[in-house]
Amino acid sequence: MSTASAQGLTTTRAPFVEQARGRGDLFIEQPYQLYSDENHKTWRTLYERMRPRWEKYANRKFMEGVENLMLDPRHVPRLEEVNRYLAPLTGFKARPVSGYIPSYLFFDCLRRREFPTTITVRDSEHLDYLPEPDIFHDVAGHVPMHTDGRFADVLVRFGQCAHTAALIAQTIRDETERLHQAESIIRAMARFFWFTIEFGLMRERGELKVYGSGLLSSYGELIHSIESPEVQRYPIQLEWVINQHFEIDHYQPLLFIVEGFDHLFSLVDELESWMKAGRLSHVAPGEPRISDDDMRSFLEAELDRAVPA
Ligand SMILES: [Fe+2]
Repeated sequence: MSTASAQGLTTTRAPFVEQARGRGDLFIEQPYQLYSDENHKTWRTLYERMRPRWEKYANRKFMEGVENLMLDPRHVPRLEEVNRYLAPLTGFKARPVSGYIPSYLFFDCLRRREFPTTITVRDSEHLDYLPEPDIFHDVAGHVPMHTDGRFADVLVRFGQCAHTAALIAQTIRDETERLHQAESIIRAMARFFWFTIEFGLMRERGELKVYGSGLLSSYGELIHSIESPEVQRYPIQLEWVINQHFEIDHYQPLLFIVEGFDHLFSLVDELESWMKAGRLSHVAPGEPRISDDDMRSFLEAELDRAVPA
């Protein structure tokens, strides 16, 4: 056994991934043979303990997605296999990445129906919380949602919004104003994404269910999000969400509810209209912090040139 396969593909300790990042390679292969027995065991543990909680708290489309993807509870999934079931349903594909990718590139992948997917598996000592995504968050938390046509359209629409955002930002002549407005629009989009795609709740046949992937991949927070009396849960309001800061290192104290994926789609439409009308250009400051890489990714993006309507 090589040293690399003994180490496996464990989050923050995977030489294959570190080397790819060192070379600046964002998009990579999934070297399946490098997963260690421990990586598979971690996947198995995460999947088995989550399954009953999904049955109770996840929305119906998510559970259908889990079935349709034929995820193997015992082994880390091969993305090629996942895509074999996913692509015919909605055109989406999981595309392996070496870690965080700058936000415009991330959204632009969604526009093309590609989902940047982390291939590492969290450390078996830290099953419950890790600041960075891993393959369990990405494949077990996100990808089942991508099997639903309407939800997939929401992601694509979000990618189109990012394109509009970059167009708007790049056409502002004054540099100070360009940086200020770009930062505000990116922050508004990040907040919207956070409170919907990552931590969203929805009404389904009169019950509250989870569709946000940050919740669906967290054993503790999934139940907490629905059952805890400490969580504030409100019908989503766009003007609130885009101005609402969030922190990533503890359970979310505030969650927003949508009425379904048609509703969510209409909100992304509205987000873009507000963007074009300048209503995202001065949102409340605060978290999340927008990194220089994220800013550059929008301001230097190569765009299909078209004047926003
Ligand atoms: Fe995520």
